[in-house]
Amino acid sequence: MSEKGPISLLDASQLLRPEPAFADKPVAAFRDYSVDDQDPVKKRVKDTYYAMHGNVTVEFVKQKRAKWLQFNHFKSTIKDALIRLNSLVDESDPDSELPNIVHAFQTAERIRLDHPEDDWFHLTGLIHDLGKVMAFYGEPQWCVVGDTFPVGCRWADSIVYGQDSFKDNPDTYNPKYNSLYGMYSPRCGLDALLVSWGHDEYLYQVLKHNGATLPEKALYMIRYHSLYPWHSGGDYRHLTNEKDEEILKWVLEFNKYDLYTKSAEVPNIEALWPYYEALIDKYIPGELEW
Ligand SMILES: [Fe+2]
Ligand SMILES: [Fe+2]
Repeated sequence: MSEKGPISLLDASQLLRPEPAFADKPVAAFRDYSVDDQDPVKKRVKDTYYAMHGNVTVEFVKQKRAKWLQFNHFKSTIKDALIRLNSLVDESDPDSELPNIVHAFQTAERIRLDHPEDDWFHLTGLIHDLGKVMAFYGEPQWCVVGDTFPVGCRWADSIVYGQDSFKDNPDTYNPKYNSLYGMYSPRCGLDALLVSWGHDEYLYQVLKHNGATLPEKALYMIRYHSLYPWHSGGDYRHLTNEKDEEILKWVLEFNKYDLYTKSAEVPNIEALWPYYEALIDKYIPGELEW
């Protein structure tokens, strides 16, 4: 486990405490990736990440992008896609055993409490994990959920489970990809990085493809919310640029709601639908191509 990640997260949490909605679990208890194969949750999380880190190469990410960015897999409204998340429990998550739709409403409602005027932000909280629907179309969870990281350059120290988890990954031994810069140039910017395939990039691209009118900062919150080695680990600063510093502020503002609401009480989803359906109609109406 990296030391950098949790420390940054603790810092972000200072802005929120002591808020009652976060109070039932100590902040330091989130994102515990310690290894204990006797503990079924810890073993599930570790197995998911080892499969991810062993398999996700530059070539693999290119293949997944070629497959999913044709948007020819299914058609669905945002609401129907959200309802499908009722039957998905994220196998990479040490902090929640609840269906993902509960996490969606917990995140959205907590954002709404702190940012009552920013309706786009509420909707961003609600939909941010929707890319996980890929798990219903034959993708194993290890290439759908979990923290993301750039491929094509050296694995950063702050990636969960560390270098050991990459020992079966062929890119670990490829000199084109295993140096500090790898296939990138200095300060090329986040947009130029090929990031491990997952639900962040997929939903970002789905929203762009279908003409969502959410503000740019919402799209970046969605696109990079799982890039923990960058936004909380402090790594990859030799590849990012000035624009990314702005994006970082938005992603961190979003991130505290994504993480620390997981132990909050379960919201009354049926009662909340009308409010969120109106936001969907405003920003992302109708049937989308996925
Ligand atoms: Fe996520
Ligand atoms: Fe999430």
